[in-house]
Amino acid sequence: MSKATAIAAANIAFIKYWGAQDLDRALPLNQSISMTLSECVTRTTVEHLPEEGEHLIQLAGEEGDLIQATPAFAARIAHHLSELARDLGVEGAFRVATINTFPSAAGIASSASGFAALATATTAAVGQEWDASRMSIRARLSGSGSAARSVLGGYVEWPREIKDPESAAHQLAGPEHWELCDLVAVVDAGAKGVSSRDGHRRALSSPYFRQRLNGLPRRLETVRRSIAARDLVALGEAAEAEAIDLHLIAMSSDPPIFYWRPGTLAVLERVRGLRHEGCAVYATMDAGPNVHVICEPEEEDRVAAALGEVHEVIRLIRDRVGPGPRLSEEHLF
Ligand code: PMV
Repeated sequence: MSKATAIAAANIAFIKYWGAQDLDRALPLNQSISMTLSECVTRTTVEHLPEEGEHLIQLAGEEGDLIQATPAFAARIAHHLSELARDLGVEGAFRVATINTFPSAAGIASSASGFAALATATTAAVGQEWDASRMSIRARLSGSGSAARSVLGGYVEWPREIKDPESAAHQLAGPEHWELCDLVAVVDAGAKGVSSRDGHRRALSSPYFRQRLNGLPRRLETVRRSIAARDLVALGEAAEAEAIDLHLIAMSSDPPIFYWRPGTLAVLERVRGLRHEGCAVYATMDAGPNVHVICEPEEEDRVAAALGEVHEVIRLIRDRVGPGPRLSEEHLF
């Protein structure tokens, strides 16, 4: 096979990757835990062109049209393709086309789904075997740490050992273990002002950075146990505290980063209000203004209706836990 298409989903972190030992290879300073989604996905087609040449990177439109990617996006993908080729032991160039089902660069982990899909499709295009650990390493060689988690479905922790340069993700539980919903309240669909790469770099300048790291082993254990026991209250409280810490560190970095918008607070207020009314629902945010609202399927309609009434919510994506990457015969070219 010289052409392959992969579909991979974004993920939402309950414990965040924030701050790195090595940003280029995405070696973290702490373990992170996430849930892989099912609706927010990237579809990527890769063709291996064995003769030497430039990589060709295109974006696919809804109508099947293909346009040239912007130079910055194409350069990032091309750099990663060269890393992948080295890791796979192949020569030549690649043609790539990709499409997301959700707004890119708005804190919905489009780099996670994008690089997980790229690693999976490239590996298949050169006819090599899929291996979860290898795929996790390949995905994070892109510089996107969250991509290391999107190569697996369900509930995922990365890494097992933070000192390990071969650091890979592993699955804590499959998607069938616990059907959780993630309602993504989009309050701003534009690209974020500060990349997560800059956020990781600046995080170490926050006076709260070390403090959070010191408390993390306990919080990680709470999240592992709450997933094992399907305990939404314990998971939600830990995930919400963790999201506040991430943004506290961002806001107190030098220079500071404000990812929140007025709509972010409006959604957080509504989630607290729902809890006050007896609904088990919790919120978390990645490096962006949009809020991921977590609940169980029985509460999904009630939560969706309440979020739909928040004036600042411009789109609501109803997502839930999902599987890892899969290959598809529906190629983009
Ligand atoms: O995957 P990166 O390198 O863009 O970093 C992701 C950072 C967060 O989304 C904020 C947290 C996480 O663990 O997903």
